[in-house]
Amino acid sequence: MVRILGISGSLRAASLNTALLKAAQALAGADMALEAATLHGIPLYDGDVEQAEGAPAAVRALKDRMLASDGLLLVSPEYNNGIPGVFKNAVDWLSRPTPGLADVFRDRPLALIGASPGGFGTTLAQAHWLPVLRTLGARQWNGGRLMVSRAQAAFAADGSLQDEAVKRQLGDFLQGFAAFVATSKRR
Ligand SMILES: Cc1cc2nc3c(=O)[nH]c(=O)nc-3n(C[C@H](O)[C@H](O)[C@H](O)COP(=O)(O)O)c2cc1C
Repeated sequence: MVRILGISGSLRAASLNTALLKAAQALAGADMALEAATLHGIPLYDGDVEQAEGAPAAVRALKDRMLASDGLLLVSPEYNNGIPGVFKNAVDWLSRPTPGLADVFRDRPLALIGASPGGFGTTLAQAHWLPVLRTLGARQWNGGRLMVSRAQAAFAADGSLQDEAVKRQLGDFLQGFAAFVATSKRR
């Protein structure tokens, strides 16, 4: 059994990316416990606040959840062909050292998925994540890719995933990632 923490990079209640993360939770096999986290409560990065007070409570709490997991699933929207500022800002906070805590990204198995109403389904945002994740030293799984395009049609009004092809792709993606995380755990 591997423990994965999924993080949605959108704050919207009706977020397609949070819906994708919920769909992943519903599809996760018996070999994977997938918890969901959001970025609510994380303030804008401010080096003065960091120096005076350390990591804000919301950052610290997310770090604790990341460290309790065996791997991370980032569910990223795409804004202006890149990483949304909300998500990058959170990762910038999370990348900062906290005394007494291990690095939350280095050597941590990680996979990336995303959904957008457009025709390319976060392709460019996912490409923009690559140098960031390399810098953080995460162990990114590249054995599968999942970009949900025309995502409004893929999800029903209640947010559940209704597109059977996407369900299959997501199930396969999760299976591959779970196997990768399990192998990384044994190393
Ligand atoms: C500032 C902004 C820029 C956007 N740029 C893109 C884009 O470059 N590519 C794209 O596919 N969608 C783009 N979108 C549309 C988002 O994919 C869409 O709003 C999506 O629903 C956001 O994810 P969420 O539903 O998880 O909140 C943009 C939306 C916003 C607000």
